[in-house]
Amino acid sequence: MPKRRLSTVTSNEAVGPYTLLRVSRGRLHTGAPGQFFMLEAPGRLLPRPMSLCLAPAGELGFLIDAIGPGTRALCALGPGDKLAVLGPLGNGFRLDVERPLLVGGGIGIAPLPYLSEALEQPPAVLGFRSAHHAEAAALVPNAEVVIDPVFVTEVLPEGRDVLACGPEPMLEAVRALRPDAQLAWEAPMACGYGACYGCVVEIDNELKRLCVEGPVLSCS
Ligand SMILES: Cc1cc2nc3c(=O)[nH]c(=O)nc-3n(C[C@H](O)[C@H](O)[C@H](O)COP(=O)(O)OP(=O)(O)OC[C@H]3O[C@@H](n4cnc5c(N)ncnc54)[C@H](O)[C@@H]3O)c2cc1C
Ligand code: FES
Repeated sequence: MPKRRLSTVTSNEAVGPYTLLRVSRGRLHTGAPGQFFMLEAPGRLLPRPMSLCLAPAGELGFLIDAIGPGTRALCALGPGDKLAVLGPLGNGFRLDVERPLLVGGGIGIAPLPYLSEALEQPPAVLGFRSAHHAEAAALVPNAEVVIDPVFVTEVLPEGRDVLACGPEPMLEAVRALRPDAQLAWEAPMACGYGACYGCVVEIDNELKRLCVEGPVLSCS
């Protein structure tokens, strides 16, 4: 069973339009790249799933896009504030690939800095909707950056093992080009560990609880 712990915010920094929130790690494990944690902001009823972005000594780092009340409450936390953290959860990326290429879109780049570190900084292709959003690319070493209307699928090099995270249309387009890619999917999640069935998605005509069978799924 994953651990739920009270963590303390150590820093909150803007990265383009996103927020990089660092919290004390305590006795929590960092898990594998692509796994996620449920972060519970004070005063919010439900926790929110967040991929681990960075794992410096003693800390867990999360890159957050404030799109609604839960993420806004998390981004409003400052040093010294407390929040409950549960994880690591789900299945991360398989790291036994020969020629990795990381592919990310928008806030979907969140798990890639930790993944890049685990794979010794392979090449990456990252897509953003604006130059301001693309400031987050600084977190991923060795990255080629494209900005809308250029899409990552237009610059994917051949002969690479693709590990991708991003919006669903981007993942579908990557999957069409690279049927063997590992893709990190998203769905709204209430519990994060298989109890609520709130995250069931239909993929290839099969219903899956994304929090336990994913979020990373191989397509083939
Ligand atoms: C495994 C996993 C890892 C994630 N990692 C990150 C991360 O590292 N950084 C980050 O910023 N976000 C991440 N997310 C997405 C994040 O959890 C949601 O944006 C957040 O829960 C929204 O909460 P809210 O209260 O701010 O907005 P809400 O009011 O709950 O949602 C705002 C809008 O987004 C939609 N929505 C909410 N959650 C999702 C979702 N998961 N998928 C698709 N649509 C959704 C809602 O239907 C609504 O339209 C991740 C999601 C999953 C499942
Ligand atoms: S989030 Fe509850 S079962 Fe997946």
